[in-house]
Amino acid sequence: MLKIGIIGVGTVGTSVCKILEENKDIITARAGVEIKAVSGVVNNLSKKRDVSIKLTDNVDDILNDDSIDIVVELMGGVEKPYDVVKKALEKGKAVVTANKALLAYHRYELQNIAGDTAFEYEAAVAGGIPIINALRDGLSANHIVSIKGIMNGTCNYMLTKMINEGVEYEAILKEAQELGYAEADPTFDVGGFDAAHKLLILASIAYGIDAKPEDILIEGIENISSEDISFAKEFDYSLKLLGIAKMNNEEVELRVHPVLIPNSEMIAKVDGVMNGVSVIGDKVGETMYYGAGAGGDATASAVIANLIDIARAGKSSPMLGFKKPLESGLKLANLDNIQTKYYLRMEVEDKTGVLAKVAAILGAKNISIKTMVQKTSVEGRANLLLSTHRSKELDIKNALEELVQSKVVDNLPTMIRIED
Ligand code: NDP
Ligand code: HSE
Repeated sequence: MLKIGIIGVGTVGTSVCKILEENKDIITARAGVEIKAVSGVVNNLSKKRDVSIKLTDNVDDILNDDSIDIVVELMGGVEKPYDVVKKALEKGKAVVTANKALLAYHRYELQNIAGDTAFEYEAAVAGGIPIINALRDGLSANHIVSIKGIMNGTCNYMLTKMINEGVEYEAILKEAQELGYAEADPTFDVGGFDAAHKLLILASIAYGIDAKPEDILIEGIENISSEDISFAKEFDYSLKLLGIAKMNNEEVELRVHPVLIPNSEMIAKVDGVMNGVSVIGDKVGETMYYGAGAGGDATASAVIANLIDIARAGKSSPMLGFKKPLESGLKLANLDNIQTKYYLRMEVEDKTGVLAKVAAILGAKNISIKTMVQKTSVEGRANLLLSTHRSKELDIKNALEELVQSKVVDNLPTMIRIED
């Protein structure tokens, strides 16, 4: 029997306990040994819970229990779980985690500390989708050309409901929290940080890049307005929060931001809590992964897959996919140089000459307007919704600043990149 200690028995931890019991027959047959959750750590021992394992509020009860073979970290956070996981690995216990925030900051240190001890994290990216396994093992013969994905279930659930049913932002965020999709602090979801943590993990496996969240472009969905949603519908776009990694020569672009995508694209059809990730390898071409990106059972499915792997083989793959560093040494790209199409929304005075000024400022920066819609907001004010032809990110940034400085607009216009 393999004995498991679960640190954090909340949404995911409870599902892990439940599935280990409910699917004991198939799990034991696949693992070759029974995998049993024996104890768990929580913050608040008086909370009522639907688990039958022994509970404690002292992490050391698990770390110092020599009968526990594998520690499953499901408490969330960064520094506290780092300390716990480090101690577990130093005691020679295998570790499984679903904690992408922890890995976004400490994955390379933990890889070193783990050494030959198994440390797995399939659930940390895209919930129930086995994307770590696919990228680290299934596609290991390829240079990864790009990764493009919906990696946050909460945002995708919210955007889908806002677009399809017109549900208000606050109400739908509350629903995502009640369904167990959101992080303990949902700013991580709506601010794009959770998707960025996941992208950074994938970027390490694909490119060997040791970047931190502070090093990459992260924009969330907090400023998406009903006007942006109407524009998307009018021009047959879907609105998604994407994590994007692209290799150009020896440089890798890493960015997370809302994107308008034509409805005809496969990824535009990934709705609700589902995640969808496209990975292009130089030899395999495009591969697509689709499935539940959040929720207790879907995430626990990935956690238990790691437990079964460890039961079968101990440590089977290098934690981040590389046995030795890539000789070419890829660098992070300067995002000012990216080129894409843009959607811009700005509030202006509704009077003669304003539109000409906007067009002149954009034109001076080589930004060519493709479509334009004007909507009157209040008397004397108008909302301009523009889309551009392919432009350079730096030119767009400079043009937006100039629009503010020249007082053509009161506030910095909203900008959403268009990927088609
Ligand atoms: P929850 O908030 O539901 O559960 C967290 C658990 O950890 C709770 O039992 C909590 O105790 C316990 N805990 C938190 N801090 C401490 C502490 N300092 N000491 C002891 N116990 C503590 O989170 P989730 O289950 O949703 O998420 C767990 C992890 O899995 C996170 O890293 C999350 O990012 C990740 N994840 C979550 C997914 C999801 O869909 N929910 C999907 C993929 C990954 P108490 O119950 O007493 O509050
Ligand atoms: N809060 C995360 C999400 C959980 O919504 O995607 C899964 O990682």
